[in-house]
Amino acid sequence: MIFYYSTYRKNTEKIAQLFAEKYGCKLIDISNMDYVNINDYDLIGFGSGVYRENLSPKLFRLVEKMDLKNKNVFVFSTSGVGMKFYNNKLVKLLKSKGAINKGSFACKGSFDASEFSNNKIFSFIGKLSQGHPNNRDLKNAEEFFNNIVKSI
Ligand SMILES: Cc1cc2nc3c(=O)[nH]c(=O)nc-3n(C[C@H](O)[C@H](O)[C@H](O)COP(=O)(O)O)c2cc1C
Repeated sequence: MIFYYSTYRKNTEKIAQLFAEKYGCKLIDISNMDYVNINDYDLIGFGSGVYRENLSPKLFRLVEKMDLKNKNVFVFSTSGVGMKFYNNKLVKLLKSKGAINKGSFACKGSFDASEFSNNKIFSFIGKLSQGHPNNRDLKNAEEFFNNIVKSI
């Protein structure tokens, strides 16, 4: 099962959909969800875009409420820079709730810096992010997911 938040350009949703297509995971868009019972699922993924240095606060609030003791989990994100360190805070929270972290994945997701900042560095990062997630990112995501599935 995958919970994701992807409101800007649906970049993170592309990764979530890939997991769903390959393994038939149930996809839950947390910006628009009802109550979900996670008891029947042995692997739960949490994905989000990065917005001002953080994954969605909604995702954190959802995780806070969940009973995740001994559940296999993983975290994925898309961001302008495409770095995994943005996932660390959520991984830490999941571990503190007794979940078993199976991995963390990140790739670039396109954004247009001029929509929210005049900062030149953001503008440069924004240019580099165009076209992502691309086929290579999707291939890396698939490999990441295959390895997790093999390990459980
Ligand atoms: C308001 C806003 C803030 C952002 N802040 C960051 C940031 O701090 N670091 C970064 O690398 N990318 C940042 N980005 C780029 C997004 O992380 C990137 O476009 C991501 O793929 C969006 O995911 P989504 O389309 O699934 O919502 C930001 C984008 C927006 C719209």
